[in-house]
Amino acid sequence: MSSLQKGYKLVYDNIVLIGFMGSGKTSVGKVLARQLYKEFVDVDSIIEVEQNSSISDIFENKGEDYFRALEQKCINELTQKTGQVIATGGGLPIYSSISKKSLIVYIDADFDVILNRLPAKERDKRPLLQDESRARALFNQRIDTYKEQATFSVDANQSISTFIHVIRDFILDKRVL
Ligand code: S3P
Repeated sequence: MSSLQKGYKLVYDNIVLIGFMGSGKTSVGKVLARQLYKEFVDVDSIIEVEQNSSISDIFENKGEDYFRALEQKCINELTQKTGQVIATGGGLPIYSSISKKSLIVYIDADFDVILNRLPAKERDKRPLLQDESRARALFNQRIDTYKEQATFSVDANQSISTFIHVIRDFILDKRVL
């Protein structure tokens, strides 16, 4: 009999936000962390600080495989700890495994909504978003994996302030350390 059937709630170590590039994981994560009194961490930012290099430069100089290995190492290290809201890069759940003890929230926004929302400056920072038709194909390839990995998906085709309370209410109903 599973712990849920016995009436116990599952306990999650951390909240992990997943979704396509530019879907708002970092913005959502900062607000959620503040509202839930958790620490906010961002995998891309950690990698940039540790490597002393931008994501674009890492892709250009060391290649995508190198970056993916850094992502896996970073999420492994972060999930040794508890009590964090972790924003991931859009490819992380595709190439890396995330600890099963994480409450994974998929920020589910349509490709066109994402593109319209993203300022040119933010697009420029993302090597895999430079060619629109390739990015759209990548989006379509990844959608199923995002949904499979998620404990919970939120419709993010609306302003962050509109959907963030949906995420918060879902999380508050769970036990996160
Ligand atoms: C990537 C997403 C980016 C960053 C890198 C690769 C991807 O993060 O990790 O450019 O493969 O989707 P954001 O999702 O924060 O843009």
